[in-house]
Amino acid sequence: MNDPINRIGTRGRARLIVVSNRLPFAFRRDDAGRWQAEPGGGGLVTALLPVLRHRGGTWIGWPGAADYSPDLNEELATVGEDAGYTLKGVFLTAEEVRNFYEGFSNEIIWPLFHDMQMLCNFHPLYWRTYCEVNRKYAQLVHDSSGPGDFIWVHDYHLMNVAAELRRLGSQARVGFFLHIPFPSPDIYFKLPWRNALIEALLQYDVIGFQTVRDRRNFVQCVRALRRDIEFEGRGQVLQATVSGRQVRIGNFPISIDFNAFMRQAATGEVAARAKELHRLLPNRKLVLGIDRLDYTKGIPQRLQAFHDVLTRYPDLRERLSLIQVVVPSREDIGQYRELKTEIEQLVGKINGSFVRPGGWVPVWYEYRSLSRIDLLAYYRAADVALVTPLKDGMNLVAKEYCASSIEEDCVLILSEFAGAAAQLGRGALLVNPYDIEGVADAIHRAFHMSARERLARMRSMRRSVREADVFWWVDSFLRATIARDLRAFPQPDNYSTVEAPDYLSF
Ligand code: UDP
Ligand code: G6P
Repeated sequence: MNDPINRIGTRGRARLIVVSNRLPFAFRRDDAGRWQAEPGGGGLVTALLPVLRHRGGTWIGWPGAADYSPDLNEELATVGEDAGYTLKGVFLTAEEVRNFYEGFSNEIIWPLFHDMQMLCNFHPLYWRTYCEVNRKYAQLVHDSSGPGDFIWVHDYHLMNVAAELRRLGSQARVGFFLHIPFPSPDIYFKLPWRNALIEALLQYDVIGFQTVRDRRNFVQCVRALRRDIEFEGRGQVLQATVSGRQVRIGNFPISIDFNAFMRQAATGEVAARAKELHRLLPNRKLVLGIDRLDYTKGIPQRLQAFHDVLTRYPDLRERLSLIQVVVPSREDIGQYRELKTEIEQLVGKINGSFVRPGGWVPVWYEYRSLSRIDLLAYYRAADVALVTPLKDGMNLVAKEYCASSIEEDCVLILSEFAGAAAQLGRGALLVNPYDIEGVADAIHRAFHMSARERLARMRSMRRSVREADVFWWVDSFLRATIARDLRAFPQPDNYSTVEAPDYLSF
């Protein structure tokens, strides 16, 4: 009964209903016409999977399939039964995928919220479809939930769901967590539908952001648009009174199942694969980048920095290789296809400039999705991880690298503009990803860092990720929903607002 969710429901045990654009599996038919469930990629799925496995509940989302047929519902039921929670599919037409998922979500909100407004395509049809599709999600949520359940909606695709639920007469408690950053008013105000979207968000009972900076940006936007709203509180959770209703607004840095990563990284299978990588790339330190194909991840800038370090520090040639894994993502959107070409050209240029006959290749590039065992083997083999997004809500790769570094003998180079910098800033080498020479110097510093310094830095980051793992994240979000007194929510200790750059904190 200590579980905070039990204090949400009024009639016995409340169920957790998670709603996200995608389900954790993408369903495709194989050549024989049978459904195959492939694990979904990205940080949202990584974080939520252990939560659903641990607590049970219902997960509502798009199964990814283009051709809906009734037997997909049976497949969802079977896969859900094996996974230990219920899966329910929202089916989208090809046009909805184009205008809601690719259009409004990924050609407007994704670039705008990552401060890249020049990449936005503010097409009015996209907004209309976004509203319609959010209504479709809300209808299924309404039909699938009872009055005592806690509905937890995730990410930028579904910001209108609470407003649509209210229109359907729902009184349910509804929370929202934004996995990506929230921009400053200067940027947010470019959105033609800025008022409608803020009003929709204020229909949630609890709104969670990754960092204090994101929450502050949101509060500033609300203050500018709704001068009648009052805010109270100073710690992790604030409260706003919106037309007589209470809305909680907090910062809840998302995380990973630290123990699961640590345990799996220690297995013989992972150790053997990590050793194999060192055999294939011998007598050198390995620098690792793992990212979805995305312009927010700063991959071209990182490759330029790697070129720069080899140019300005010739002593590192043949003693360092970069393994860059790019996971395919959003391939139907033009900007993503262009980025892939740019990355491949840069890799070719670097390898063409430095490669020597019969030996060292500076950049080992892979364009594919990794299995969990391969992912952990890369983490364990890498002496340095380069996590240099231009902007990122959190970046779980940084936390996974720390959890998997069981020897505590490696270095994390981390962008100041990743949400993770607020927690890991003490142990990582923080860099400005736009500063090519600065990142190159950080690689040089990491190469020469003493074992003692590596240990101290990595130990402090591992402690921080272990203390604030994904179960802590869920628990703090649910507690913020039910707590009577906001004084129970000072900023958590693991949130190092002191070491992080000023703009990440108040
Ligand atoms: N990941 C994945 N497939 C891969 C390699 C990595 O799904 O082939 C996972 C990785 O383990 C991490 C997530 O993708 O959990 C990436 O999350 P992050 O927060 O770093 O960025 P996002 O992709 O969500 O923007
Ligand atoms: C980020 C977003 C998630 C999204 C994931 C993968 O992590 O915050 O909401 O699911 O990227 O992107 P995709 O477009 O393939 O779902």
